Amino acid sequence: MKTSLFKKQALFLTLFLVTLSTSVLAQKQEVIRPGELWPDTDGNHIQAHGGGITKIKNTYYWYGESRAKDLDPQYRYVSCYSSKDLTNWKFNGNVLKMAAPDSLSSKWVLERPKVYFNLKTKKYVMYLHIDVNYKLANMGIAVSDSPTGPFRYVKRFRPLGFESRDIGQFIDDDGTAYIIFEDRPSGGFRIAKLSDDYMDVEKNMSLIKARIEGGAIVNYNGLYYCLGSGLTGWKPNPNKYATATSLEGPWTEFKDIAPVETKTYGSQSSMLIKVVGSKKTTVLFTGDIWKPDTQWDSRYLWMPLEIEEGKLWLPEPTPWKINVKTGETTILK
Ligand code: DGJ
Repeated sequence: MKTSLFKKQALFLTLFLVTLSTSVLAQKQEVIRPGELWPDTDGNHIQAHGGGITKIKNTYYWYGESRAKDLDPQYRYVSCYSSKDLTNWKFNGNVLKMAAPDSLSSKWVLERPKVYFNLKTKKYVMYLHIDVNYKLANMGIAVSDSPTGPFRYVKRFRPLGFESRDIGQFIDDDGTAYIIFEDRPSGGFRIAKLSDDYMDVEKNMSLIKARIEGGAIVNYNGLYYCLGSGLTGWKPNPNKYATATSLEGPWTEFKDIAPVETKTYGSQSSMLIKVVGSKKTTVLFTGDIWKPDTQWDSRYLWMPLEIEEGKLWLPEPTPWKINVKTGETTILK
C-alpha cells in the first residue's frame, strides 16, 4: 500500500519536473549564446547545420541539414525553422526528405541547403550540395510553393560544367540572386548569378583563386566582403575574408577574421546575414561548430561582426542580444 503511494508520488514528481523543464526551455529567449545548445520553441536543440537564412516579409526562415539522432538513414533531411527575432526559432518540420536520387550510392550526402524565393514564379527554390565520396561535386535543386515545404527534388548538375562542393547564398541589395560554390579543379571558388527563374546557374561573375569553402558574401556600404574557411574537412581552421567593389573583382588578398590560433573559435563559416534596422545595419557571422562523431550535437556560432571600411573582424564569442527592428545588438560580457 505504502509502496504504491510512494510510486504514485514519484511518478507525479517526475511528470511535474518534465513539464517544468519543457516549459522553462520553451520560454521566450532573449539571448543568443554561441557554442551552447540552442533550444527551439519546443525545447529541442536546433537541427539546421550548414544552414542558410531566407527572409520573407518580416519572418526569417532557417534551413539546414538535420542531423537528429532518430532519422531514417535511408533518407537525407532538410529542416526549416522560422523566427521574427533571429533568437526564438519554431520548428516547421523537415521540409525535404530525400532518398538517394538517380540510384546514387546509399552513402550519398546532402549538405548546405539554401533557399531562394523567386518573385516572378512565386516558387521557393532550394539549392543543395549533392555528393558521393565528395567526388561527384554536384549541385541539386528542389522546389516548393511554400517556405515551409514540402520541397520536391528536381535535378542535380555541375553548374556551368564546373565541379561544385560547398555552396553559399547571396542576394544583392538590388534583389539579384547569386550562388557561391567551391570549384576545386579550378583552384578556388566561384560566384555565379542564377537564371531569372532561379532554376539554373547562368553566369560566372568571379573565380576567386583561393582554397576556400563555406563561402559567404555580404554587401555592406557598397563594398562586397567575401569570407570562407580553409579545406580541413570537419576540423576548424582560420577563416579569411577579401573585399571588392564589384562581384567581378578584383578581390583583395585574404585576411584573417579572428586570431589565427582560435581557428575561428572552433567554427566554420556558413552565411553572413545583413540586418537592416531603423537605427543600424548589423552584419552577423553564422557558423557551425561541427562535432563529426556526434553530429546531432553540432553547435552554432553566431556573432555580430565588426565591419567598416574594408575591415572585418569576428569578436570573441560571448552571449549577445539583437533587436531586429532597430538593428542594434548588445554584447553581454
Ligand atoms: C567541410 C564542409 O564545409 C562541410 O560542409 C562538409 O562537406 C565537410 N567538409 C565534410 O568533411
